[in-house]
Amino acid sequence: MRKPYVYITRQIPEKLLKPYQNIAEIKTWTYEDQPVDAETLKEEIAHADGMITMLSDKIDEELLEQAKNLKVIANLAVGYDNFELSSIRKRGIVATNTPDVLTNATADLTFALLLATGRRLIEADRFVREGKWKQWSPFLLAGTEMNQKNIGIVGMGRIGEAVARRAKGFGMNILYHNRTRKEQAERELAAMYCSFEELLKESDFVVCLTPLTKETNGLFNEEAFSQMKQSSIFINVSRGAVVDEQALYHALVSGSIRGAGLDVFQHEPVEPNHPLLNLNQVVCLPHIGSASEETREEMIILCLENVTNVLQGREAITPIPY
Ligand code: DGY
Repeated sequence: MRKPYVYITRQIPEKLLKPYQNIAEIKTWTYEDQPVDAETLKEEIAHADGMITMLSDKIDEELLEQAKNLKVIANLAVGYDNFELSSIRKRGIVATNTPDVLTNATADLTFALLLATGRRLIEADRFVREGKWKQWSPFLLAGTEMNQKNIGIVGMGRIGEAVARRAKGFGMNILYHNRTRKEQAERELAAMYCSFEELLKESDFVVCLTPLTKETNGLFNEEAFSQMKQSSIFINVSRGAVVDEQALYHALVSGSIRGAGLDVFQHEPVEPNHPLLNLNQVVCLPHIGSASEETREEMIILCLENVTNVLQGREAITPIPY
């Protein structure tokens, strides 16, 4: 009997693939740092039994029309807005993602971005390297601190709760907005549920962690930014399309909010001449929310487990919920 064929759309360290090579014939795209080209993806999906894809690979109806044998497709991310789920499911293909394993790494990065933006760390680093540090002065690069401030978390899933736990340790008051109430977070962290509007008005740090869906596309628009405090800082570790970037830019230059920390952009990689990148009060990262070595390895292993489970007739560990 032939081994099932699995295609992975980036190069993956051989040591991680080794334990699975007796189960499946596994092939990877040539590069770790470049996405697979459209032609190769089309050819590979045509005869793959299983696939592991990245958040930069769009898996839509047109591509899936090529798939003859595909039984499982595992996204190396917790977000799956790159998947056209209805097209995947109508073909009986199992779709999986990587929740849980990346919660702490992403919460750490979110909090790092909050601190970096609030305390102006990147500006300060540039200041030193550019030889601008001539003397100490009381308000040199003074930022805003966390203690006793309100953090407003939009999207209180696993990562939101992990960010809230970190915020508690920094003495912050926790506000959140979510589709459902989180009773445990309310009990353990004294997190307060708010409407979206209340959260915007009351928060000193507004942290966007909501998944990208039809409902959240463009959620942070001109109206949303106009409701935030002038002293507030906006953090986005979700998806770029949740934010109207032009509205964010105007809110920042007009001083209607104080700063922004962004791990994600509407178009990735963001163009180096993007207007947001010209602003000192913005900290920009290249979508590295879950990028710790430990977590990335765990994510890859979870994808491999999901794919091989399905190919061997077992349940996927983390199927994307219906
Ligand atoms: C995810 O897993 O969806 C994150 O955006 C990756 O950093």
